[in-house]
Amino acid sequence: MGESASRILRILRDSGRYVSGQDISSELGISRTAVWKNVNSLRETGYSIDAVSNRGYRLLESIDLPTADEIGRHSTARWLGRDIIYMKSVDSTNILAMMLAAQGALHGTVVTADSQTAGRGRKGREWHSPPGTNLYLSMILRPPVSPAEASQIPVISVIASMRALGRLCPGLDCGVKWPNDVFCGGRKISGTLCEMKAEMDRVEHVVVGTGINVNMDPLNSDMPETATSLLMETGCSQSRSRLAAKLLEDFEAVYDQWLAEGSLKCFLKEWEAGSLLLGRRIDVRTASRIITGRSMGITESGALRLQLSDGSVQLVYAGDATLHGKFEIV
Ligand code: BTN
Repeated sequence: MGESASRILRILRDSGRYVSGQDISSELGISRTAVWKNVNSLRETGYSIDAVSNRGYRLLESIDLPTADEIGRHSTARWLGRDIIYMKSVDSTNILAMMLAAQGALHGTVVTADSQTAGRGRKGREWHSPPGTNLYLSMILRPPVSPAEASQIPVISVIASMRALGRLCPGLDCGVKWPNDVFCGGRKISGTLCEMKAEMDRVEHVVVGTGINVNMDPLNSDMPETATSLLMETGCSQSRSRLAAKLLEDFEAVYDQWLAEGSLKCFLKEWEAGSLLLGRRIDVRTASRIITGRSMGITESGALRLQLSDGSVQLVYAGDATLHGKFEIV
């Protein structure tokens, strides 16, 4: 959204009434035709704006879109989301963010969308991404760490998602399933796909793409049975832009602390407190095999500690964990 469109939106929101095209044009120092064009671009973004001759323009309803303007109103993050690119529809916010990063987009740039036509989950799965309901958000990061250290970022993202969900919906009973799924009442509410472009010893960029089911309703959508949403868990619809703002604030704080301390040590207790699998017998599906053992938490570098039946502890760096014998695909 351009600077003029964003200012017009603010004027209409602040007034709550009809504001004449002449008044807007004088305040912004642009022509009435330019005002009209910007109002149309706001309408294309998804805002309902009424236009009545002799009265002017009025914002009809405050819709909840995860646009730069809406998120910016709520977020106090310093560097994360200083640039937010909002798309009404995109194949995948991660694909777009990886492309923008390759073209030089700055550290902290964020891509959001109202819907995705090819939303991607981990392991090549699809991420159900209908319009008007959920949050789809990808962050571009340029961490000054090695590729091995950057593999800790999924843990950071899940800690930030848990904090953001807890702040938006206090009392929400959710937990983490390694590596970075958030579950509520046995169903998945959020997942994150982290992608990286790196050389052997240098990270070029990382994209952290999080999907959170916000207002998805099983009665009105073909929502997967294994999924839940904030609407289903709390009984109320929730604001995507407020949630996005909280996620950016929490991610920024966790990321900055991680970089300052140089490991995940300071987050291990928080991770364990939220872990759904800690102490349980689990199956971990890696690229090549399935390992069964008791989950003993994670290490300072984010690897899963798995106690095998002979008592030894094996570290697993990548995979998917499920309770032993339950191979749910979510
Ligand atoms: C998973 O749990 O499998 C990860 C899901 C990640 C989905 C998000 S939605 C925003 C971003 N864009 C994508 O295409 N995927 C991630």
